[in-house]
Amino acid sequence: MKNNIIRLFLCICLLSSGMAMGQQQINEPFKIGTESFMLNGKPFVIRCGEMHFARIPRAYWRHRLKMAKAVGLNTVCAYLFWNFHETSPGKFTWEGQADAAEFCKIAQEEGLYVLLRPGPYACAEWEFGGLPWWLLKKKDIKLRTQDPYYMERCRRYLKEVGRVLAPLQITNGGPIIMTQVENEYGSYGSDKEYMLKTRDYLKEAGFVVPLFSCDGTVQLKNDVQKDIFAVVNFGNNPEAAFKALREVQPTGPLMCGEYYPGWFDSWGAPHHTGSNDHLIKELGWMLDRNASFSIYMIHGGTSFGLWAGANCQPYTPETSSYDYDAPISENGNATPKFDELRNTLKKYLQPGEVLTDVPAPIPVQKIAPFNLTAVAPIMPQLSKPVLSDTTLFMEDLNQGYGMMLYETNLPAGAKRKLDFTEVHDYAEVFIGNKFIGVLNRMKNEHIINIPELSKPAKLRVLVEAMGRVNYGYYLPDRKGLQGEVYSITGEEKAMLKGWKHYSIPLGEGNPQFKYSAINTIPKLNGPGFYKGYFNTNSKSDFYLDMRWFKKGVAWINGHCLGRYWNIGPTQTMYVPGVWLNNGRNEVVVLDLHRPVKPRLQGLDKPILDSLTTNETISSNHREPGQKFGNNQNSLIYTGAMENTGKWQTFTFSPKNGRYLALEALSNFTGDQFAALAEVELLDEHGEQISRNSWKVVYADSEELKGNDGKSENLFDLQYTSIWHSQWKDLAPKYPHQVVIDLGNKTTIGGIKMLPRQDMETGRIKDFRIYLAGELFKGL
Ligand code: GLA
Repeated sequence: MKNNIIRLFLCICLLSSGMAMGQQQINEPFKIGTESFMLNGKPFVIRCGEMHFARIPRAYWRHRLKMAKAVGLNTVCAYLFWNFHETSPGKFTWEGQADAAEFCKIAQEEGLYVLLRPGPYACAEWEFGGLPWWLLKKKDIKLRTQDPYYMERCRRYLKEVGRVLAPLQITNGGPIIMTQVENEYGSYGSDKEYMLKTRDYLKEAGFVVPLFSCDGTVQLKNDVQKDIFAVVNFGNNPEAAFKALREVQPTGPLMCGEYYPGWFDSWGAPHHTGSNDHLIKELGWMLDRNASFSIYMIHGGTSFGLWAGANCQPYTPETSSYDYDAPISENGNATPKFDELRNTLKKYLQPGEVLTDVPAPIPVQKIAPFNLTAVAPIMPQLSKPVLSDTTLFMEDLNQGYGMMLYETNLPAGAKRKLDFTEVHDYAEVFIGNKFIGVLNRMKNEHIINIPELSKPAKLRVLVEAMGRVNYGYYLPDRKGLQGEVYSITGEEKAMLKGWKHYSIPLGEGNPQFKYSAINTIPKLNGPGFYKGYFNTNSKSDFYLDMRWFKKGVAWINGHCLGRYWNIGPTQTMYVPGVWLNNGRNEVVVLDLHRPVKPRLQGLDKPILDSLTTNETISSNHREPGQKFGNNQNSLIYTGAMENTGKWQTFTFSPKNGRYLALEALSNFTGDQFAALAEVELLDEHGEQISRNSWKVVYADSEELKGNDGKSENLFDLQYTSIWHSQWKDLAPKYPHQVVIDLGNKTTIGGIKMLPRQDMETGRIKDFRIYLAGELFKGL
């Protein structure tokens, strides 16, 4: 009897402990161990690649996921863009192109796990970093802080994300193994409570899988670690990056949250590519150490519609192509990078894993040149203005995207200047119907000359909104004219009042305007829509060649393809074959200027690398014959940097001036190259000075071909982008100088500089700082 009781007791113990073990298996099939990730009780290396379903036509999701699997990945990483799902407050869309759950389900069917990055902020070169524009209707909103208004909306959104996607966690048999909290928050703020609250909202929304945060090597230490697993983002030097990660997180698996195989493109700046050898070498290094990674991007795709974002400062809107020089090209094809990556990854498959076949490429076609035969001039067709004495933002008109026209009266009088304070983002100025000129935010332009007026005239300013800022401190990027507008004649300055505002919303779907046959309309000198048709019986992809047009937006059968701009580097627009009709297809092109010819054609290859004008912000900041000269009188500091990748601060007794010159005298390798990632200036109290109105006025040398080494990279807040003296065609010798116009007279008590992160080449050693009230001698 006693034995029986003991047996029964043992049995119950075994059963319940078995249940407990089973329970643990069921509840924590994926967890973070002290050395590795654990999947179903076994160590697991995450070989992941990022793709954004919003950037891929839904009909191609499975193809792209099959490609990701075939390159040798076991996981896919996906941001959710809040503004793609909550298009107006409280109204959520999870259907069609926004069907996040379906994307995850297909990933699972194709044998991939999912890392989910729901935001609320994402970055990703996406409009407003994924935040919905309507948040900006609240004038005093403080984004990415504990501002109760902002937080309430984040909470509502995350709750909805949980409703739709928490059922797809691995704990419920789904593919989601980890979920990210916010995105690179340490690059922006330091409010730990904010991160913890955001984490709590995810938990409250039902996320039980491990939560993680990511940030760059330098910024990592600013992030919160408590209860949030940290991963590090980089495109270079895994050894240094993992060392930085270990400093903030002594145990746990090592993971690179974003490894960059290429980079995104911006209008007017050189096209970016990334070296295949470098990618293979560094991924190999990580895999040899069982480190996990996510390749950002394995497939970039396209920021269709008006979803491309912008970096700031200076304002640099991103191209609609998000090819990223990723292993899977914009139209889903295997590139040489893909083949090399597949060859590498197949050496690191886990026991039992099989490399799948590469799916057949989606075919491409050419479309013979065709003319657009109808035109709809925009300005004569606008009605129902909103009146206000002072100028309103686009958001005040309850409009998220597109253009708006501002109109007021100018009295007769002598020549004058108009100062618009700031223009977001590209304005065409007209007096009556006469085109006067353009104001481009990328070049910090906000003043225009007005000719003498013999009688009162109508001032019309058509403002095009490009992408809202997605990275850095200039996130609250409201569109339209930014403040008071002044008419300046000699010493007199008068504020312009009595504004009419006309809304011209743009986005998915053809804009509703009346067209006339092109030959019945006198040549336009203002914005217009051009319409035409082509025939094809194939549903193959192609690239719409925009080189006969200048600047605007294009649609195929009502699908908005994105923005184009003849300054490059992108000159084509990706047209997914699945958006075509058999037979007749309609194309609509908005051009802000008159096209060279209203003509288009379809190419079977993209043109991603053609900058066409030296008017762009990436033009060399140097006129022939310009020299920095001898400016000893303005010298305020002489110093030397250390050969590390860390921020270095130099302080001195405060000085006042408007033009700042950084002169590099030598480097650590004894050659002619100078390179630097970021410059910050400190005021007399050691506080960082706003870089909002900075403008480079001179750079003795900058590399614009071999890599993007333009001098504006010094204050773009991207720690991975650098100013680099020329190296490809020429290699001018030291010293190298960059002169920055600070916008106003400013008191400076120090300078902070961040050396290039990826390698030693060009890291500056000895340097001098000059500050002057007037532009330096020789410039
Ligand atoms: C980061 C962000 C990403 C993306 C990349 C650059 O560090 O986390 O969203 O913006 O940079 O492509």
